[in-house]
Amino acid sequence: MVTRRGFFKAIGSLLVAGAALAGYGFVIEPGFLLRTQVYALTPPRWPKGLKLRLVLLADPHCVEPYMSLSRWRGIIAAANELGGDMVLLLGDYVPTVIFRTGLVPVQDVAGEARRLNAPLGMFSINGNHDWWADHAAQRAGAGPPFAQKAFEDAGIPVLANAARPLQKDGFRFWLTGTDSMVAIRKGRGQFEGRDDLQGTLAQVTDDAPIIHMAHEPDLFVQIPDRVSLTLSGHTHGGQVRLFGWSPVTPSAYGNRFAYGHIVEDERHLVVSGGLGCSFLPVRFGMPPEITVIDLG
Ligand SMILES: [Fe+2]
Repeated sequence: MVTRRGFFKAIGSLLVAGAALAGYGFVIEPGFLLRTQVYALTPPRWPKGLKLRLVLLADPHCVEPYMSLSRWRGIIAAANELGGDMVLLLGDYVPTVIFRTGLVPVQDVAGEARRLNAPLGMFSINGNHDWWADHAAQRAGAGPPFAQKAFEDAGIPVLANAARPLQKDGFRFWLTGTDSMVAIRKGRGQFEGRDDLQGTLAQVTDDAPIIHMAHEPDLFVQIPDRVSLTLSGHTHGGQVRLFGWSPVTPSAYGNRFAYGHIVEDERHLVVSGGLGCSFLPVRFGMPPEITVIDLG
């Protein structure tokens, strides 16, 4: 028989365990952990001999106290240690999280990103939150959103439906980027995209391989096999991920594109787990990550 003392001891233990779990999920994992997730792959159409290291920074959602400017600066310093040929910034620089204590101006976020260092350069794309935070852009239904201007002012090109030819060790390849698929809010659960995949790929003028950046991984269903590799963020791996499953994912496809290296019909997608939080400041089983991809 359970005594009253035993019962209250059990309840007390449960409360302590719950508080410890909450402290971990709401404070430790989102605010203090950082891991490097490395993928090595050779996708179709990739030329023999072209070795390329990509360092991805996705979804910092800079805001006090969860992703302060000093934490962002530390992440940038860590990214610089990884020896990437390029650093790719996958959007969502601004916050939407609840329980915040202060804002971090996106000009400062972009200014810190100037410290990034890679021989082939840094490139950025817009995320949906970068659009949603710009009320003038929302009213006009047109950009560029102010985050894009901040990154361009910092000297970091933003590939908003644009393509860039690049070269390494005598090999040519293309880096392309589309704008957000859910850029303009049109009412409850309704959005208009500002993504133009066809117009972007039409700027590719030869048959060199293509690496494509798309903030939302849902675009992957439209990506042709002409593209060697698609890179996305946006989902944060669901922020809570248990045994390879995310209960909540901002995707029309549930867990299909929630996280990791996904191969469908010989088309390759890597979805970064991202760095920050949206809406609820929690991460559990999905620590903030810098994503590294070794190609070739
Ligand atoms: Fe996003």
